[in-house]
Amino acid sequence: MTLSGHTYPEGAAAFPHRGLLGIAGLAPHEILFLLDEAEQWVALNRQPHKRDDRLAGLTIINAFFENSTRTLLSFEIAGKRLGADVVNMHAATSSVKKGETLIDTAMTLNAMRADAIVIRHGSSGAVRLIADKVDCPVLNAGDGQHEHPTQGLLDALTIRSAKGGFLGLKVTICGDILHSRVARSNILCLTSLGADVSVCAPPSLMPAEIEAMGVTPFHDFDAALKGAEVVMMLRLQNERMEGRYIASPREYRHLYGLTLERLAKATPDALVMHPGPMNRGIEIDSNVADLLGGQGHPRSVITQQVEMGVAMRMACLDVLTRRDRRVEGWA
Ligand code: CP
Repeated sequence: MTLSGHTYPEGAAAFPHRGLLGIAGLAPHEILFLLDEAEQWVALNRQPHKRDDRLAGLTIINAFFENSTRTLLSFEIAGKRLGADVVNMHAATSSVKKGETLIDTAMTLNAMRADAIVIRHGSSGAVRLIADKVDCPVLNAGDGQHEHPTQGLLDALTIRSAKGGFLGLKVTICGDILHSRVARSNILCLTSLGADVSVCAPPSLMPAEIEAMGVTPFHDFDAALKGAEVVMMLRLQNERMEGRYIASPREYRHLYGLTLERLAKATPDALVMHPGPMNRGIEIDSNVADLLGGQGHPRSVITQQVEMGVAMRMACLDVLTRRDRRVEGWA
């Protein structure tokens, strides 16, 4: 029996996708399959000996065209814990700086016969462009404002471990919804699993027609927090803003910052989440970001999100390479 209580189609039919470019296009049972697969890696990662060599002999390339701490390191750790050879390409020190195009970079990585390529890029759609040019599975580690699917999955894994499930769970996502690929992947993932998702942002940072994604929009944070069982805060994506979207950081904090006083408007055991990196004192106060739970009720699960990130990425690398590894039922 799996943790989600689901039984899955046999072999590759459980996850019939060649890569992971987004949550869009995944069926709810495929998302649950990946979450259930990750549970074994959560357990392994809590052991002193964190090693399973099922990807021995494979080469994984992490090609990051944007900065990252959590995603890059957790993909690297995930690949190494599964026994793969992992190499990182940072755009800032690569031939991209000499003018090499994205397509030429993709074809170069492909010629090195990688077995999986993990890509972060500042342009929405760039990861799909590369996926169309290479022979191996491609995993999206965040592309522009489009998607960050492994973040959505690791957040779902974190929520499930604290709350048990998703059906009817009231989740409020607050911050720069407009520019956030994390918001997009979380909305797709959580609504697909049956959660009741609200989003909150100033009008300038709320996408038009967001209701079409199956969420309830708010501009008043206090109203959005009422009854919330999970509060997910997002960073202002200053690197994706041209011009002014907020009057000032001070006013933004006043209206949209998560303080202890504001958190009291949510349910008493509401989880606090943030994908990181955080701007402490802007979208979240330190005493909320570091809030401890009591008597088995976690409150801030920001470090747990990071922990779940390694396990989730191990699951994605394992599942997506099964076909090429000729795993029984997947070849
Ligand atoms: N959450 C996230 O994607 O963090 P990094 O930018 O540090 O990878």
